[in-house]
Amino acid sequence: MKKTNYKPSYIMLTVMLTLLITTSSTSSVHGFNVIDKCWRTDPNWRSHRQQLAKCSVGYSGKMTNNIGDDVIKYKVTDTSDDPLNPKPGTLRYAMTHIQGKIWVTFERNMTIRLQKPLLVSSFTTIDGRGVEVHIADGACLMLQRVTNVIIHGIKIHNCKAQTASTVLGPDKKIVNVGPVDGDAIRMLTSYKIWIDHNTLYDCEDGLIDVTRGSTNITISNNWFRTQNKVMLLGHDDGFLRDKNMKVTVAFNYFGPNCNQRMPRIRHGYAHVVNNVYKGWGNYAIGGSMNPSIKSQANYFFARGGRNEVTWKQESGEVEGNFQSVKDVFANGACFNGSGSGREAVRPNYTPDQAFPVEDGHKVKELTKNAALLYHPEEHFIECEYGTDAESETDFTDNSESNYEKYCVRHVEANWMQRFRSGEMKKLLWWAAWSTYEEDFKVQISALGALSEKAVKDLLKFNPMRWCRTYMDTICKNQMVDNNFTESFNS
Ligand SMILES: *[C@@H]1O[C@H](CO)[C@@H](O)[C@H](O)[C@H]1NC(C)=O
Ligand SMILES: *[C@@H]1O[C@H](CO)[C@@H](O)[C@H](O)[C@H]1NC(C)=O
Ligand SMILES: *[C@@H]1O[C@H](CO)[C@@H](O)[C@H](O)[C@H]1NC(C)=O
Ligand SMILES: *[C@@H]1O[C@H](CO)[C@@H](O)[C@H](O)[C@H]1NC(C)=O
Repeated sequence: MKKTNYKPSYIMLTVMLTLLITTSSTSSVHGFNVIDKCWRTDPNWRSHRQQLAKCSVGYSGKMTNNIGDDVIKYKVTDTSDDPLNPKPGTLRYAMTHIQGKIWVTFERNMTIRLQKPLLVSSFTTIDGRGVEVHIADGACLMLQRVTNVIIHGIKIHNCKAQTASTVLGPDKKIVNVGPVDGDAIRMLTSYKIWIDHNTLYDCEDGLIDVTRGSTNITISNNWFRTQNKVMLLGHDDGFLRDKNMKVTVAFNYFGPNCNQRMPRIRHGYAHVVNNVYKGWGNYAIGGSMNPSIKSQANYFFARGGRNEVTWKQESGEVEGNFQSVKDVFANGACFNGSGSGREAVRPNYTPDQAFPVEDGHKVKELTKNAALLYHPEEHFIECEYGTDAESETDFTDNSESNYEKYCVRHVEANWMQRFRSGEMKKLLWWAAWSTYEEDFKVQISALGALSEKAVKDLLKFNPMRWCRTYMDTICKNQMVDNNFTESFNS
């Protein structure tokens, strides 16, 4: 680790001083983002499931075509899968035998292993709220020439490549499906799609593919982890119809262990906003064939190794029009934009697509619940500053890093032996995540409000070694604080 200007004794002193003069915690407990606020604040949401459809933002617009008195409610009770003769009660039966608007829920926690790709039908909502549903270890989801689809609250992982096959599709039509590479969700020529609150990881190819002229898509609140190629928007240099592609990528949590394509885009337009990036390998955001990306108020946390968010072609240029607006860069992350002018990167949302963009410093809080309706702790149990041999595959070249010695998890393990409280543990992690000294102090003060002794004990571990605030950065960023005055549609 490089030297910083801070002396530990000075830090301790200021922290303890702050403690004495600060009396209460300032951080909000809920931190729901604009989508979640719209349904999760209703304690009785189980009885008002259709409210969800009114909560989407971004290019999908509101999903109000999916609701109404004519919706057929369908409950999945059977985890079996027969691609040609699905049994009533299975997910595939819902997609093939039921016409019109359908709202699918699940009877209990379950894992569905699909034998062949599942063709999702139009006007379909797959709603995994309230139970834990995995689609895993087999084929996964395909959206082929469909529209008005919501996929919410499902864990899709370990998807495997499939040879060409024949399956029953929507309206009981027999469909020949070509070979697939093993993506969690693959869209072809589909419009008005909302992918929200899913957990996606460890698939043979990618997690989400948006291809062949698909557009008007919102990908929000998902947790993407443990994946080389995460999200592909446009798969073919020659497919010019993708120039019309419009995708909103908002409030997602990327990492740990995502290597590249968050997203990678060809031709079209992506508004990438209020996401948290917890490290990347090759790059986070990239593209070719002259795409446009507005990267806005995201939180980019580099893990060491490669710090640049963006991807360059061989020529050394970032191809297309990539603009970073009010992004927050931590631990040395930097964004090398390209193209000219903000005009080209305006999302130009319609009123039902527009939404308020939050401050990049708040997005950790706003993505905290990404996909995690049960285990809010999961985000807090990872090692922040380097490799963790037990649980991580390391995509980055971290050979010079000795951060792991100081990993906050080790601090936690030690300290938690004496202070076993979920709330204190949470505050410890928020403190470790802090980017600025002020931020760190706020978290430490909140902890102090619970137990002053716990703070004293914690600060025996030098914050220079476990708190991001005091770590030196490797690549200095010139765009940390640019001068754009933002409104949500600028
Ligand atoms: C369903 O899964 C959740 C989350 O893992 C768990 O908390 C709950 O106890 C499970 N319910 C049953 C009936 O097993
Ligand atoms: C996409 O959304 C816009 C705005 O609502 C609409 O004008 C356009 O027709 C939609 N495109 C498709 C292909 O559905
Ligand atoms: C951005 O990329 C260009 C082209 O490769 C390069 O000349 C420039 O130095 C880079 N800027 C930063 C800050 O890395
Ligand atoms: C930011 O904008 C203000 C007002 O236009 C201007 O005076 C100032 O020089 C700008 N700062 C930077 C760093 O560009």
